[in-house]
Amino acid sequence: MRHLSVPSAQTQHWLERCRSEKWLAEHTGVTSLSDGNKAIPLNQTAPPEGDAAWDGNALVDLAAKGKTPSHWTEHLSPEILKSHKDDLPKAYETQGDVLIVKIEESVWHLAELIADAMLTQLPSIRLICADLGVHGDFRVRNLEPLASRDGSTETVTRIKENGYFLWVDASKVYFSARLSNERTETLESAKKLKQRLARPLIVADPYAGVGPSMGALLSEPDLIEGYHAGDLNPDAVELLQTNLTFLGNRRKTEVGEPAPAPAPSTVICADATQWKTHSHLCNSSDLLLVNLPHDSVEHLPHLLPLLRRGQISLLRGWAIIERVNEASEKQKIAAAIIDAGGTIESLEFEEVKGFSASKSFMCFEAWVVLAVESLSS
Ligand SMILES: C[S@@+](CC[C@H](N)C(=O)[O-])C[C@H]1O[C@@H](n2cnc3c(N)ncnc32)[C@H](O)[C@@H]1O
Repeated sequence: MRHLSVPSAQTQHWLERCRSEKWLAEHTGVTSLSDGNKAIPLNQTAPPEGDAAWDGNALVDLAAKGKTPSHWTEHLSPEILKSHKDDLPKAYETQGDVLIVKIEESVWHLAELIADAMLTQLPSIRLICADLGVHGDFRVRNLEPLASRDGSTETVTRIKENGYFLWVDASKVYFSARLSNERTETLESAKKLKQRLARPLIVADPYAGVGPSMGALLSEPDLIEGYHAGDLNPDAVELLQTNLTFLGNRRKTEVGEPAPAPAPSTVICADATQWKTHSHLCNSSDLLLVNLPHDSVEHLPHLLPLLRRGQISLLRGWAIIERVNEASEKQKIAAAIIDAGGTIESLEFEEVKGFSASKSFMCFEAWVVLAVESLSS
């Protein structure tokens, strides 16, 4: 089996890289080599020897390590497995090298053993945290560190989504990898808007979190002229600023040359409903994202003034609503647009599947033209 031979100190870095690129072979582990290097097992999709992706590191052929456990529960004792099988975690979430898991009360006394078993099984994970539920105004997760590979309990980590990197911190800022398809859809709609306007776009993302939607948009060559992004949570704004600076500095044009920095490049820590009180933010954006799912529809009247008037513009948002209210909520979105002086070219209101059985997680997309305000109004 092909292995990547790397200096021991770089093992974590290369494990993470191979994991995020999906090049890691499964059901086997890292082998120590006689020259002090570590050998990381690769699957068939990994690039060949000499590829630039390997940064000069060699590939070596080694027998795969004997069959290793294929599931973390196999590292628990048979007694524990027998008596607690039904209560052990069935799923977990990873954000970069941090793993977040809900632990039932009935097996809480085994939490550290469970975490150690997970660390043993999952070489690219550094920290295991118990998820104690969401708390506070910003609905961030209360995390309790259970086990750490290197002693650090730092929850800031970097993830790769659709090809771009983002710094995240599950203990301080909301982020959900499950919405990455929505970001891809946002990108597709933004490309259509660019075509219609025949120029790059200005985007407003006032509930940006760490900036995953901006990641998708800024990574597309020649799509974005500039942005106004923000969040009410100061911790989110700190990561947002870091992510946007990183994304902005690495932009390329369609022909692969360095692209100019986005302008404007506003990052604001403020209540989104107050953005309309800043004249430079009003009538300024071609694309508006509204992602505060419990309040998106209620907030709309405060946000629509951010869209540029007298042209086609695009509103995309997400809302969690009672199933029975789908028609009335759609009506509320339409009414907010009309009250803002808008003409609706199209309004889609569709469920994003797989979120909740009791409520609907909806995406709305409206193509609108807001009338130019008369001087007297
Ligand atoms: C559901 S999260 C979406 C974050 C991000 N757009 C994403 O997709 O990961 C909503 C975000 O809105 C922020 N938020 C809550 N109330 C806000 C307000 N009134 N104004 C601006 N941001 C707010 C929260 O801190 C949170 O980061």
